[in-house]
Amino acid sequence: MSATTEHIHIDPTEKRWMIASVILLLIFFAAVTVAGFMLGIQVPTRERRVDPNTVAEQPPWSEPGVREIVPGEEYEVYVLAHRFSFTPNEIEVPVGAKVTFYVTSTDVQHGFKLQDTNINFMAIPGQVSKLSTTFDEPGVYPYVCTEYCGLGHAVMAGAVTVTEAP
Ligand code: CUA
Repeated sequence: MSATTEHIHIDPTEKRWMIASVILLLIFFAAVTVAGFMLGIQVPTRERRVDPNTVAEQPPWSEPGVREIVPGEEYEVYVLAHRFSFTPNEIEVPVGAKVTFYVTSTDVQHGFKLQDTNINFMAIPGQVSKLSTTFDEPGVYPYVCTEYCGLGHAVMAGAVTVTEAP
């Protein structure tokens, strides 16, 4: 055996791990592709910047809540997160509609996780987090704060009521 081939000799165990690593990478790539393009799981976008000190006084945040864009089909929901509640803490939309959430914080960093949907992001003072979802089943979908924000963190919650199609 020449010196060159000795240098590129790969131990069989190491080779197996190299193959396993490549297979794992391919699995991760497939998982991300399926999640992103087939299950609709998206990375929250920083929709726009706002001044956390004045955002609550300026439209659309001065009147947080549901906006009907196309009746029964498309809705926007503006939510303000603050210690230790969400405004509004009760939201009602019809089943099957596309609902886009715009969430921001007026004080510290909060979270916004909407049960049984793809919505789960941080609510950061100065930034607006935006994600869309469609509720396929009527019912009550709770949302909770998922970032520790102080003593009242555990009670910071609300709920979306999804009604039968109008
Ligand atoms: Cu707000 Cu935890």
